[in-house]
Amino acid sequence: MLGLIIQLFLVFVITCLSVFYLFARSKYGYWKKRGIPYEEPTFIFGNVSFLMRRSFWDFFYDISKKYKKYDYFGLFLSWQPLLVVNSNELAKKILVKDSDSFQDRYSYSGVNDDPLGSLNLFSIKSPMWIQMRNEISPMFTSSRLRGFTELMNINSEELVRRIQKDNIDNKEPVDLKKLFSMYTSDTIAYTVFGIRVSALKELTSPLWFITCHMVKWTFWRGFEFTMIFFLPAIAEILKLKFFSKAATDYIRQMFMKVVDERQKTGQSNDKDLVNHLLKLKANLKLPAGSDSQLADNLMMAQAAVFVLGAIETSSTTLTYLLHELAYHPDEQEKLYKEVSEALKESGKDVLEYDDLLKVKYITACIFETMRKYPPVPHLDRLCNKAYQLTDEVLVEPGTPVFVNIVGLHYNEEWYPEPEQWRPERFINATDSDNNDFKFLPFGEGPRFCIGKRYGMMQIRTAIAQMIMKYKFVPDGPKQLEADPYSVILGPKGGGSVKFIPRT
Ligand code: HEM
Repeated sequence: MLGLIIQLFLVFVITCLSVFYLFARSKYGYWKKRGIPYEEPTFIFGNVSFLMRRSFWDFFYDISKKYKKYDYFGLFLSWQPLLVVNSNELAKKILVKDSDSFQDRYSYSGVNDDPLGSLNLFSIKSPMWIQMRNEISPMFTSSRLRGFTELMNINSEELVRRIQKDNIDNKEPVDLKKLFSMYTSDTIAYTVFGIRVSALKELTSPLWFITCHMVKWTFWRGFEFTMIFFLPAIAEILKLKFFSKAATDYIRQMFMKVVDERQKTGQSNDKDLVNHLLKLKANLKLPAGSDSQLADNLMMAQAAVFVLGAIETSSTTLTYLLHELAYHPDEQEKLYKEVSEALKESGKDVLEYDDLLKVKYITACIFETMRKYPPVPHLDRLCNKAYQLTDEVLVEPGTPVFVNIVGLHYNEEWYPEPEQWRPERFINATDSDNNDFKFLPFGEGPRFCIGKRYGMMQIRTAIAQMIMKYKFVPDGPKQLEADPYSVILGPKGGGSVKFIPRT
């Protein structure tokens, strides 16, 4: 009897594997059948068998070189055909002109027991997304950014002090990524949650606790995010989460504590986003019969998206910016001179919002860093209705499409010698420039990065203060290795420079 059970079980397993194999094989003919150039897949993993051993950013960099002559090519995310677009004209069509065929992201949008992960602006799907976007966009007016910049400058002063204490006085090794993650975490705590805590000052910071929990790239955290972004079907089966229960509870408690205090004391502060998030909750038009928790969850999720969107991207950019400045002393001195002159002209101790916008060379250095090291290597969209991209390519509903930012940014025709870091490429750029869709670190179209101007200011205030106090000198290899567990670009080991005080 036992023998029969084992035999039946084996037949069952072999049948399942054979069916899956035939299914995958039929899928793997997808691009060939359509005459679209593609990368040969391997069984089960398609073209992503490298995941968790190598960063997606590095993979995209190599594959972009291989297919640089093509406007598009096919890949397989496991068995799922994926179209990758390398052309700025096609990017414009997908992201802007015909964006109604590509409203949502491909990535997994989370589940009910991850309300902050599933309802935030980044992951929420249409039609709820449009209401959220309309409610949140006005939070980033120029006048509010002016207020944020004051708070960012206070944290930038802390950042400069922390460098002095740890890296100069105590000669501790520098971990740029950690240092800048503390800075961006403190800034978010202040501007979004209205709490003046400081990881940089080594005080207890609830947000730093959450930041570490969220984006410490252990194997498991890397696996969760990798599945969420690249293999959403598996993320769904495994019910993976953006925010764990502990992080969700922590964010909720932190936010509600601030709200309670404000209600008790009657104090309000228009500089942070607490009141605006409360207004958002009051304005929401929810479908009849919605869960009573939904409005609360929607509000909290928008606060949480700052943790998700703002901390990693900006700290990665600051890390690579300092790394490149250390290797480019002439450009570093030019930046120092321009910031010094702007300070003299303003007559202030630190540059404020309008002063910072005038220092064109800061923008040029940041943009060139984002060109060479776009923190997010691709923009993902899901085709929601059949779409004729070119005469040859019909994108079917349900097909993910990735706009290849790395490929665009390393195109030699637009950026000669793309491996070279040259801020001169962006000498008169303004925050809204996308160089005719050849420069897309913040995405484009209706789903472009809502925190773009915030992120740029957060980087500007930090660099403007650091460059006045320190020279940056190389400390480590010129080529920074990308962390294979980090879902966006992140330097393995954090990256380092030597800080030399300016006398
Ligand atoms: C250096 C800084 C940053 C970079 C490089 C960056 C990059 C990006 C990119 C590439 C996207 C996808 C855009 C698209 O699909 O077209 C995005 C979306 C988004 N980012 Fe950022 N980001 C940065 C800072 C921030 C900050 C400070 C916030 C804080 C609010 C933020 C919040 C978001 C949100 C909510 C979305 C989703 C928008 C939507 O789907 O409507 N980001 N970001």
